[in-house]
Amino acid sequence: MFVRRIAVVGTGYVGLTTGACLASLGHRVVCADVDRAKVTRLRAGRVDILEPGLAELVAEGIAAGRLRFVLGAAAAVADAEVVFLCVPTPMGAGGAADLAAVESVIHEVRGLLPEGCVVVTKSTVPVGTAARLGALLDRDDVAVASNPEFLREGSAVQDFLNPDRIVVGSDSQDAAERVAALYARLGAPTVISDAASAEMVKYAANCFLAMKLSYVNAVAELCELLGANVADVTEGMGYDRRIGQAFLAPGPGWGGSCLPKDTSAMLQVADAVGFDFGLLRATIDANARQRARMVAKVREAVGGSLVGARVGVLGVTFKAGTNDLRDSPALAVAELLAAEGAELHAYDPGVDPTVEMSGINLVEDAYQAVRDAAATVLLTEWPVFRGLDWARVAELMAGDAVVDTRNHLDPEALSRAGLSWHGVGAAPVHPAAPVPTAG
Ligand code: UDX
Repeated sequence: MFVRRIAVVGTGYVGLTTGACLASLGHRVVCADVDRAKVTRLRAGRVDILEPGLAELVAEGIAAGRLRFVLGAAAAVADAEVVFLCVPTPMGAGGAADLAAVESVIHEVRGLLPEGCVVVTKSTVPVGTAARLGALLDRDDVAVASNPEFLREGSAVQDFLNPDRIVVGSDSQDAAERVAALYARLGAPTVISDAASAEMVKYAANCFLAMKLSYVNAVAELCELLGANVADVTEGMGYDRRIGQAFLAPGPGWGGSCLPKDTSAMLQVADAVGFDFGLLRATIDANARQRARMVAKVREAVGGSLVGARVGVLGVTFKAGTNDLRDSPALAVAELLAAEGAELHAYDPGVDPTVEMSGINLVEDAYQAVRDAAATVLLTEWPVFRGLDWARVAELMAGDAVVDTRNHLDPEALSRAGLSWHGVGAAPVHPAAPVPTAG
């Protein structure tokens, strides 16, 4: 079997998923992190990230002797044939990606890399980074490649092992082919290109996804104004194979650790070369507007002013199935509600209720969140919220309005319980009239 010695630097959700999945494909993987406590936990098989299947793969890899964890990049690279950089590239000043962590790893390992190895950027980095890292490395015997990840949080393992495609770019064709060969067992379509094009694929794909969502959110708003129902509209659109059903659900706006960061970075890159990317700017602006629109729905539901209004909040993570709060549109909407004077009681199945959040009281279950609320707002589409006992919710709430920013709930079930449902891109559904009793 084809086995390579691989180092993975950074054990966030991308790095740890990459390391554990490559080990499951048979490779020998050493993962490095700078957080000593985290390395100790990982060595014991303890995974902090909520990512289905990941803890199992980590345990399997350790047991099989194919996966190890070390402190610091220097300890991982000594005999590596391929080194994956999976360190954070957060949004820096002005929206550009901050490459400080990537560059610091390059400085740390440049004298330690074995001859002939390939350094691969997996974190999303601006177009031109591979070339820049090559110059920083200043090693003729070490190639740099870009191999962007397309891993969704909450299904990262599944996405890694069943990819739509593998993209590898390097100005050394041989290095790109060696990196692509690591994934050969997955049988996915593989695109091999120059480094800049591979870096561009990631931005172009994520910006397109963000644009699709801003478009859908705008269509939903128009549906409200024209009396159409967005669920029927998107279903009708999605059967067109050129459009597809995925990524067509309206919501409180898109967020998470990638789309906001990548759209801003792409805009920066375009600005830097004098290209006015109006389409992308409008995509980002529409997203900010979407959050404000959700706040307006809640304001209206409590009678026009949020000052002193008690609001039950269902969900604060950026999407269901994750405990990640980074750039969460749910949290942003909650914070805007708090800023207007609302008293918020929030529940999220992925977030520890003892966590302190400014302006938001986290509680232990959904029923506590809705108690005495003038209105309830659903911001994250956790499946458990669909199955709530709506009659009990209706009894606990002071008002009757439920704002469903994800169109996640069953409007009829709420209506039967005496609640009114206010979704996105659809007409509100009011409480059902009580059935008159005979006689
Ligand atoms: C995304 C990309 O999908 C992935 O390929 C990339 O590598 C990392 O960024 P992720 O951030 O995990 O993944 O989240 P994703 O599932 O793509 O959702 C992004 C945002 O869009 C979330 O806020 C989500 O709630 C929202 N969304 C998604 C919608 O509002 N409607 C949809 O139909 C889909």
